Formats: sequence, structure tokens, C-alpha cells
Amino acid sequence: MLATGLAYGCLLLATAITSTASPVHRDQQILDFPDATIIEPDFSQTSSIRDTLIANEVIGDVLDDFEPSYYIEVNYPSTHDKVVLGNDIPVDAVSKRPVFNFFSLKPHSVEAKSSTFTLVLTDPDAKSRDKPKWSEMCHWILTNLTTPTPGPPPETHNAKPGEIMEYLPPSPPPKTGAHRYVFVLLVGESSDLKAPKDRKHWGYGKVRHGVRDWAEENDLRVVGANFFFAQNEMQ
Ligand SMILES: *[C@@H]1O[C@H](CO)[C@@H](O)[C@H](O)[C@H]1NC(C)=O
Repeated sequence: MLATGLAYGCLLLATAITSTASPVHRDQQILDFPDATIIEPDFSQTSSIRDTLIANEVIGDVLDDFEPSYYIEVNYPSTHDKVVLGNDIPVDAVSKRPVFNFFSLKPHSVEAKSSTFTLVLTDPDAKSRDKPKWSEMCHWILTNLTTPTPGPPPETHNAKPGEIMEYLPPSPPPKTGAHRYVFVLLVGESSDLKAPKDRKHWGYGKVRHGVRDWAEENDLRVVGANFFFAQNEMQ
């Protein structure tokens, strides 16, 4: 069933890419970065997204179990490094904000047309996966994201994505192994969201507290996740 969903997602994105004449079908969120490019879909992974999240304990350490209904594509334009469910990306490549898009894996989007989305980047492996004493570390929060739907643009179409937590480039310390850097897509009312008080522990003051608490506190629901590994060259 997920395979069908993925196939549909690809089709949807392929349509989105070729139909440049009707920009309303493009669901890419490009911020104001000069070298932003359209991202090609890549589903070379054979296991399902959820299985991969479970195998790498993203579901577990960071998120409660959920069935992904959106796929988040993330691309670091300077090196064209793509985030693909647990691939390795050099630290040098992630120093600037990535571009991204997200699209429904289900033929009939379960979210209301007026849904707004929030994208976050969190590190559950600070200072290391074995000793997560600073975990989770909040690296980025963008709110007010919309995904255009066929037909007239929804009310929220003109809302600009709001960066309530600036992008902090991943910089895992020397000798702390590979860190998981996890992008999470949340759905729910986001116009009044406030940033957490602190990046460390997302302000909750306890180890391994973070986006799960923040989402619950703000009534946001997890609909997608993607992640990569990065480590300091000195190990
Ligand atoms: C999100 O959108 C709402 C409504 O358009 C606006 O009031 C709010 O300031 C925006 N948030 C950010 C962080 O830009």
C-alpha cells in the first residue's frame, strides 16, 4: 500500500515539475536562495519510510510511531547533496539552509486545503548518540508553510514561511560519532507559534526532550520525517 502511495507521490511530483505553466501545482517551498533548484524525486530505497525511521530509532528516540502521509525532500544546493532517509552528508555541505518541498503520499490528501505546515530540524544525538546530554538540539523551525492544491489557491496561499528559529548548521563535535539530523513535518495551526526558549533540550530542560513535546504543546501532528547522518571528520 505504501508502494502505491510512493508511486502516486512520484507521479504527482513529476506532474508538478513538468507543468511549469500552472505554478499552482508546484508544491515546492523555495525560500529566497539564489541557487535554489527543483528537486528530482529519488525513491531508490526499497524499504518503506516508516520501516527506515523505526530501524534507525528516529521513531522511538524522536517521534512516536506514525504512518507518514507526506514525503519531505531536502536538498543542499551548494553540493546538491540530498537527504535520503539516513544517507551520510559531509558537514561542509550543510552550512547553509537547504531547499525543500513536501508532497502527499496518499492519492487523496487527508489534510484540509487550508492546512499549514511547520518544518523543523532536530539533533537527538547531541552531544553523541551514546551520551545525548544536550539532546534534542533544535536546529531550525519554519512555520506558515502551505502546500498548494489543485484549484483556486487556499486562503493561506499568501502566507510567507516564517523562520521562528534560525538555521543553525549541523556541526557535530569531534569524536562524537555520527549524529542523526532529523527533519520533521508537522501539520496544524501555525500562525501564532513561538520558538522554544532554548535550542538545547528545546527549552524543556530534560535529556531527549524536544520536538515531540513542542508538537504536543502546540497541537501539531507529525505527518512526515526524513533524516541524514553527519559526523565530524575527526573521530
Ligand atoms: C504566520 O502567518 C500569520 C498570518 O499570516 C502571521 O500573522 C505570522 O506573523 C506569520 N508568522 C511568521 C513567523 O512569519
